[in-house]
Amino acid sequence: MGIFDNFRKTKKVEEEPLVSQDVSRETSQSTDDVSRETLEVDQPETVETEEVIVSNAPTSSIPDSYVVTPIKSYDEKLPVTHAVGLTKVFSIINQKGGVGKSTTAINLSAALGEQGKQVLLIDLDPQGNTTSGLGVEKNQLSRCIYNVLLDDDELEDIIIPDVCPGLDLAPSTINLAGAEVELVSEMARELRLKDAVGKMRGKYDYILVDCPPSLGLLTVNALVAADKLIIPIQTEFYALEGVTKLLESMKRVKNRLNPSLEIFGILLTMYDGRTTLSRQVAAEVRNYFGKQVFETIIPRTVKLSEAPSYGIPITQYDPLGKGAISYTNLAKEVIQRG
Ligand SMILES: Nc1ncnc2c1ncn2[C@@H]1O[C@H](COP(=O)(O)OP(=O)(O)O)[C@@H](O)[C@H]1O
Ligand SMILES: [Mg+2]
Repeated sequence: MGIFDNFRKTKKVEEEPLVSQDVSRETSQSTDDVSRETLEVDQPETVETEEVIVSNAPTSSIPDSYVVTPIKSYDEKLPVTHAVGLTKVFSIINQKGGVGKSTTAINLSAALGEQGKQVLLIDLDPQGNTTSGLGVEKNQLSRCIYNVLLDDDELEDIIIPDVCPGLDLAPSTINLAGAEVELVSEMARELRLKDAVGKMRGKYDYILVDCPPSLGLLTVNALVAADKLIIPIQTEFYALEGVTKLLESMKRVKNRLNPSLEIFGILLTMYDGRTTLSRQVAAEVRNYFGKQVFETIIPRTVKLSEAPSYGIPITQYDPLGKGAISYTNLAKEVIQRG
């Protein structure tokens, strides 16, 4: 029996959106410096969100099985094996907060699972929005990705299997907030996630990493661990602000620690086709990044912001809505891109 056997999903009220924690200082030239600047500016500030259990939330759209099914232990999972080289590791990254990283992490992972893929989603943000958005009570967890990065726990010991069909979750808790500081004095501090993820290659089709809104050591770990990057960009003013800096960080990590790192795709999020601004920004991003931009655009829809409070992905919360359709299309496009 695993540590999650008594774990049950619970409905929650919607959490506050992330506070934008955009880093505005100049980066310097080494990867070490990328890490160090974090210590001063990138500590999460809004991690203490309380999860409240509500009794009067509408229940009609919540499938019963999702509310009452206990989580199995990882050991009970039937082994699925793929060729090691076929596992793709994508980090969902943008140091700007509130651009749709966690929303994409949850809903793309779930949609890939529904397409028959085996997916591991790693929540690397101390705010744990992805963990709670998949119905997992962070407060009930005794271990999380922190223990993998700093205590040498095995990744498979913290995985919560089958949070959705085909989708396993490596959760985050508030403990992860200390990791940025504690990693600094560790040996091979940038390689911790890469080593852990490496052991899971061959067990999944996709391993997705949801990054925190910073360019700190956690994000550097995600850059080093990834084969490729998915960069969500919100279709609003200043959409490209900070992207240059992200690309610089990517380049430094590529030069020193992960030579094969590439952009897998740029994802336009929160698109509102009725506004000229959204259309102009989408055109500007396509102009800048060309074919790297996914064909699929994620529309702004209130259902996408409601789903996390029920702990289910959009494909279950509003299966026929435009949010579900767009993330399903994105999953198909991801599979097609290979
Ligand atoms: N397509 C969308 N339509 C409407 N709201 C969205 C959409 N994508 C994200 N949101 C909401 O915007 C906020 C920020 O999104 P989130 O995915 O948490 O961003 P990040 O992880 O980059 O900080 C959340 O409240 C989320 O529910
Ligand atoms: Mg997030």
